[in-house]
Amino acid sequence: MSYWKRRNIIEVEGKSLFTGHYHLFFADKEKTFTRKLGDFTKSYGKTYGIYQGLNKIIVTNDLDIISEVFVKQFENFHGRQVNPFVGDPEKEKMVHMFFARGARWKRLRALASPAFTNANLKKVGLWGNRYFYILNEVFYKLCQINELPSTIQIHETVEDSALEMVKLLDKVADKEINIRDYFNEYTMDIICRVSMGQTESKMFKNPYFFDVDYTSFFPMMAYCGLIPSFLIKLSFMIGAMIPNSEVDIFLKLTDKIGKAVEARIKQREDDEKRGIEKGEPSDFIDMFLDAKVDELPDEGGEEYSRANVSSIDYDTLGRLKYLEAVFKETLRVYPLAASANARECTRTTTAAGLRIEKGESVMTDTWTLHHDKNLWGPDADEFVPERWLNKIPHPQGAYLPFGAGPRMCIGMRLAYIEEKVALCHILRKYDIAEGPNTGEELNLRGTALVHPTHVKVILKTRN
Ligand code: HEM
Repeated sequence: MSYWKRRNIIEVEGKSLFTGHYHLFFADKEKTFTRKLGDFTKSYGKTYGIYQGLNKIIVTNDLDIISEVFVKQFENFHGRQVNPFVGDPEKEKMVHMFFARGARWKRLRALASPAFTNANLKKVGLWGNRYFYILNEVFYKLCQINELPSTIQIHETVEDSALEMVKLLDKVADKEINIRDYFNEYTMDIICRVSMGQTESKMFKNPYFFDVDYTSFFPMMAYCGLIPSFLIKLSFMIGAMIPNSEVDIFLKLTDKIGKAVEARIKQREDDEKRGIEKGEPSDFIDMFLDAKVDELPDEGGEEYSRANVSSIDYDTLGRLKYLEAVFKETLRVYPLAASANARECTRTTTAAGLRIEKGESVMTDTWTLHHDKNLWGPDADEFVPERWLNKIPHPQGAYLPFGAGPRMCIGMRLAYIEEKVALCHILRKYDIAEGPNTGEELNLRGTALVHPTHVKVILKTRN
């Protein structure tokens, strides 16, 4: 009898000896990993078990289980599934906040959280590195609503990259373009400027873009837990020797961040010797260097993080209610980072009547949850920003674009600012119109993150 059957949990059919159910996700080229879960949910119901190679994953859409796992029983679910390329979350030096767990995660989160507060974001005007999924209707609607303010108070880095992007867009105005390329460059530009010591805009000249193909043989086997860690390390070492390979670019990127931090420390020491006082932080590096964990309130990870995400107020940007509704609705229809909504059980427990064993992971089927007519109403499949204007249009736990609980996305506010500033600047200059290839449906691709291959539009210069 298989593991899930012994555990009395419905098991998805079609398991293979080596990859478990993983091969089923990648056999269907038309559907991304997280959307494929929707097919399983239709056939097997709200909660079922799959295998990712040797790893056991419970997929669920049960709001009570989600609330227990992600929020109430955080002490039993404080980690994510170990990433084979990152390694042991307790020991490996390269483990960052996303994959850290326990005390290590708490420390990293506490260090980073102050940088993401409203006050600091206003000061520095920061960004994220995700893609926007903006439909034509959104653009049209925004133009019609005419709620763009005449002045937008945000820091110059953000504004500067947005304006650089608009300059580039000027060159292709009135022609059909794939606007996704511009948003990609824009978000990467900001992240390099605010956290890697890059001093000027480098859109379309950024050497750090690379696509990771998780579906090729080696990564897939590694994610299934079938490749021993020494072989993964060996592959890293070989990759590092191949110029412009993914590993080579990745290592150059981390090296650049390290050097930028060292240079800043040196610059601060030199300034101090010369009697120059430390000014306002200019970017993330300054903020992290200034952060002191022992000065942070000692409330425990959960309450601390919840407090941090509960009060979004961006002054002027905060007044753009329709724009915010558009962003929320876009991420409801397209929860692009849904694969991150998972936790590993670190202590056997029972959550809303479901026994969960140590070592099992729990993942939400976020796409199904976001389109569930029982939760969102009969128009759940339609794009309706208005649903966000006067009320919270869903039961608690049904909206998870940024996850839930103490490990909820730390960059959420940043993402909001990023999107609002970019759209404000674009819409001031252009009307967004359909081109011959705009198309009805987005062609979504990707594994860990989902993105459209094209968002073809024409930016028509406004009179
Ligand atoms: C539209 C933009 C974004 C989306 C949809 C998104 C989504 C997510 C999701 C779903 C998670 C997992 C949450 C969970 O497990 O409960 C996450 C975690 C995280 N995100 Fe984001 N994110 C976005 C932007 C950003 C930005 C701009 C940053 C930082 C610059 C960022 C940094 C992180 C980090 C560090 C974590 C791990 C937090 C932890 O484990 O404590 N994200 N994000």
